[in-house]
Amino acid sequence: MAPFILLVLVSLLFVPTSSYVQQTKEGFISGVISDKGLDFAKDILIEQGIASIVQLQLPEIEKSVQVPFIGNAKVILSEITIKDIQVNSSSVVSGESGIFLVVSGATADLAMKWRYSCSSWLIPIGISDSGNATVKVKGMQVGLTVDLRNEEGTLKLILLDYGCYVGDLSIKLEGGASWLYQVLVDAFQGNIASAVEDGISDKVSEGIGKLDTLLQSLPKQISVDNFAELNVSFVGNPVLSSTSIAIAINGLFTERNVFLVPQRYRKRLQVSSACGGLPKMIKVSIHENVFRSASLVYFRADNCPSSFFWFQEGSMQMIIDELPNQAILNTAEWRFIVPQLYKKYPNDDMQLNISASSPPVILVDNQDIRASVLVDIAIDVLEAGEVIPVACISVDISASCSVDIIRNKINGRLKLEEFSAYLKWSKIGKLHISLIQSLISTALKTVVIPYLNLELKKGLALPTIDGFAFQNANILYLPPWIAVCTDVSYLEDYYLTQHSAYVS
Ligand SMILES: *[C@@H]1O[C@H](CO)[C@@H](O)[C@H](O)[C@H]1NC(C)=O
Ligand SMILES: *[C@@H]1O[C@H](CO)[C@@H](O)[C@H](O)[C@H]1NC(C)=O
Ligand SMILES: *[C@@H]1O[C@H](CO)[C@@H](O)[C@H](O)[C@H]1NC(C)=O
Ligand SMILES: *[C@@H]1O[C@H](CO)[C@@H](O)[C@H](O)[C@H]1NC(C)=O
Repeated sequence: MAPFILLVLVSLLFVPTSSYVQQTKEGFISGVISDKGLDFAKDILIEQGIASIVQLQLPEIEKSVQVPFIGNAKVILSEITIKDIQVNSSSVVSGESGIFLVVSGATADLAMKWRYSCSSWLIPIGISDSGNATVKVKGMQVGLTVDLRNEEGTLKLILLDYGCYVGDLSIKLEGGASWLYQVLVDAFQGNIASAVEDGISDKVSEGIGKLDTLLQSLPKQISVDNFAELNVSFVGNPVLSSTSIAIAINGLFTERNVFLVPQRYRKRLQVSSACGGLPKMIKVSIHENVFRSASLVYFRADNCPSSFFWFQEGSMQMIIDELPNQAILNTAEWRFIVPQLYKKYPNDDMQLNISASSPPVILVDNQDIRASVLVDIAIDVLEAGEVIPVACISVDISASCSVDIIRNKINGRLKLEEFSAYLKWSKIGKLHISLIQSLISTALKTVVIPYLNLELKKGLALPTIDGFAFQNANILYLPPWIAVCTDVSYLEDYYLTQHSAYVS
């Protein structure tokens, strides 16, 4: 039953794709599910719904009937079980008033047991018999209408209307007297039909209830690592239209347990739902402010090893003590260029201590994401177990990052665009700018960028629902948004094996 839930969930998490413009207030991540996506979700929902109905046992039906020549018979139908359901056609339509799902022309196979006992003045000794019967239900229709509302940052799924209608049913008796068949057809047909209608309607309502409970239980904040959280509160009501459903979440990073990131909003953010003409199930748009909030949070974070961001120890800081040309990191290599350094620290190893001096500025461009960051690179000499900073160079770095999505992971590739450097301070006299440039260039090109790329290659898992995977994802750069247009596949096996371990 739980996956029943997931159907609507998917539709929620991501919402509209035909060409219309969604207006979101304060929502920096927006999702659109197209009619194609809605159709996909519908199929999963129906599949899960059927799974929850098969083996459903309906209440026993008991009736006293007058049978010619036999007398008064008490007939009981028990263990009425829905064995199978086949759905011929189904559709889902969304519109301003809600999402309407209908299954039509479905058939169901039922099995049941019958027994009767009767007595009359003709047959003073009571007779009784029992056996099995099967029932085929045809032309069954099931429909439901739901609406989605934002209630204080969580989504509420409201079941507006639902029902099940049985068109026709035929009964096949195994054994039993011929009069019994007539009795079942005449007297019980209606009861069996209503039992099926009620049983299935109850399941629909129960399923939507569970789905709603699941939505309500979704967190408003997701912790990313030890010190950052992502605000996943829903913003505004979902926008339902005839071609898509759109939702928005706040999407900004905040420091864990601390409210520090300024939540500055422009009045209205406009996000297009178009996927460049591609028929994709969903589109997720991320505003560049999401990256900026992350940059701010990680810049401020102190001494917390992060699984998310690149720099090793502390927040945005890294130590380089290895270079492909290791000799550069020894004062001996510098003896002719900076004699003062060699004189003071002969033949000592050196390291570079790189730390960001302001949060990286990140913006979405037409073909990639641009980042610029101001870093201080301290040149340290390592002498007798001591770290002695001898000079500090300030470097303004611009890089571009192209993004790719492979399954549920987002990967990036960083490219150094340009940098400029100047000497901030020095205890070893003046350093030639060309020297600084070549040192920094070597460090950036041979160590820093490759290292960051290695980290970026590991990928960042996208916040998705267990059991669902992106398929044929495309990245669109629509400044200030970066969007992912994708189809979704449902890994039922994955869901089944992982579900027991899943704690939301
Ligand atoms: C399924 O639907 C098609 C047309 O939509 C119809 O021709 C066919 O008879 C239906 N089958 C059943 C079993 O209802
Ligand atoms: C009725 O069905 C059950 C299985 O559901 C079977 O064990 C039993 O033999 C059947 N009885 C008759 C009379 O066919
Ligand atoms: C999360 O986002 C919601 C909606 O924008 C906002 O009301 C709330 O204050 C945010 N929470 C935090 C901790 O920033
Ligand atoms: C690296 O530089 C930063 C900022 O100047 C400083 O706080 C940190 O202690 C230095 N780390 C090492 C290992 O030198």
